[in-house]
Amino acid sequence: MVEVRPQLQSIRNRPEPLGAVARLVARALIRCDDETADHQRRIGAYATALAASVGWDREPPRRLFHAAALHDIGKVGVPAAILRKRGRLEGSEMAAMRLHPEIGARLLGTDWHPFLRLAREIALHHHERWDGLGYPRGLRAAAIPMSARIVAVVDVFDALRCDRVYRPALPDGDVVTFLRQGRGRRFDPQVLDCFLRLFQRDGADGLERSGRRLAGYGLRRLPH
Ligand SMILES: [Fe+2]
Ligand SMILES: [Fe+2]
Repeated sequence: MVEVRPQLQSIRNRPEPLGAVARLVARALIRCDDETADHQRRIGAYATALAASVGWDREPPRRLFHAAALHDIGKVGVPAAILRKRGRLEGSEMAAMRLHPEIGARLLGTDWHPFLRLAREIALHHHERWDGLGYPRGLRAAAIPMSARIVAVVDVFDALRCDRVYRPALPDGDVVTFLRQGRGRRFDPQVLDCFLRLFQRDGADGLERSGRRLAGYGLRRLPH
């Protein structure tokens, strides 16, 4: 019998094909009106900057950069009519939308590579809430992986600052007010405080630049 273990080990040790995987998924997600490649890339950069600032260093920055960008990968399994619907989602539509974390986790569902493990953790838990009222697992506070608590803040931040099919972008003042209202409810209070400090100091563009720099991309334009 062929011994596969050494081969598997050598695949595991290869440099991660992060950029290629993330770009592939970004293209797949462009079918969702509100999840553009730019949104995903910003989430990656913001999450990387925020992680450094809260002192979370469990994962290398570049891995987090790309894994965070995949947070909504499960939306490929949600009907486009629901993703693009203007106005509020009905009960059954909302239920279908809320499956995207589980779908994403299943798509990424393998333990064999640390990048996929992190991407799955984020995809599965980025809609959990600090107060336990989130989904899909209803995890509370520190039971929610830190990676997902970080992405939860930057995802809402960026979503509010962008035009969506059902509403225009909010001005920054309103975005900050909304985030503050979620302190200790939707968001980890310490992560949120840290994010607001960063945003007030550097602005969104500064945050994006520092995330990219930490991930090793500097000012280089990321290939599409
Ligand atoms: Fe999501
Ligand atoms: Fe998102």
